[in-house]
Amino acid sequence: MTMDSVGGRRYLMCRPTYFAVSYKINPWMDPTAPYDTALAIEQWTRLRETFLELGHTVEEIDPLPGLPDMVFAANGATVVDGTVLAVQFRDPERADEGPAYRSWFERAGYAVHEAKFVNEGEGDLMLAGDVVLAGTGFRTTHAAHARAQEVLGRPVITLQLVDPRFYHLDTALCVLSGSDGTGPAKIAYLPEAFSPGSQAVLRLLFPDAVIASVADAEVLGLNAVSDGTTVVLASQAVELAAALRERGYRTIGVDMSELRKAGGGAKCCTLELRPGGGTS
Ligand code: ARG
Repeated sequence: MTMDSVGGRRYLMCRPTYFAVSYKINPWMDPTAPYDTALAIEQWTRLRETFLELGHTVEEIDPLPGLPDMVFAANGATVVDGTVLAVQFRDPERADEGPAYRSWFERAGYAVHEAKFVNEGEGDLMLAGDVVLAGTGFRTTHAAHARAQEVLGRPVITLQLVDPRFYHLDTALCVLSGSDGTGPAKIAYLPEAFSPGSQAVLRLLFPDAVIASVADAEVLGLNAVSDGTTVVLASQAVELAAALRERGYRTIGVDMSELRKAGGGAKCCTLELRPGGGTS
């Protein structure tokens, strides 16, 4: 394993070499529409370079032919304190990604805990300070939330997603501060993507959250990566970027339009590797 860069985050990414929109497992995907793999690679490369310029470390997992969604590394695992909870996809089209990510972690020397239930990794399980915010309703199941709490040793807060366009938690909510488990958590989210009860929970836990508009969420603006200081988000999410700057964050816009055809943005392409053991 490589060491963390000083002060930087460590991310795992998967080059979209075999990117395609060849099946439909969310409302964004249209297998009859054209897509451009070369452009997807270009956009992904720019995202990777942005992370490197910010002083973060990027690890890469080899893409596999026949797994066009493997670029969405956030769905590959959940890593908290160096502990890895493996994933189990809902859809057969993505099933083989689970073992592929699992073996990357095993080769890197991590202890990996099996998923046991449908669980799509950081797409639905997002560390926010001390707690894990956990989406359900479309992909990751309630049973997986209990499993995550047991394996990761963090309180898990279940949040019910209700809009099929925002099928993973990371399409409806962004952890702005505390995604590395340190400090008070700050978030941005789209209230309409959650059930009334979950909206109440979010208001209670995060009274000062940034509230996103539907327009920003529709360009997957909430599918953003924050290191606590700089937020990397869809360049089309202009209102959200302005609101974040008002709160003191620096924002960097990235065009992820080609990957959005599969329903993914910057965060979907990025899995945070949170170190364990001491203060590294
Ligand atoms: N086509 C993929 C799917 O529907 C997109 C995954 C996006 N990933 C994410 N973390 N939201 O599973």
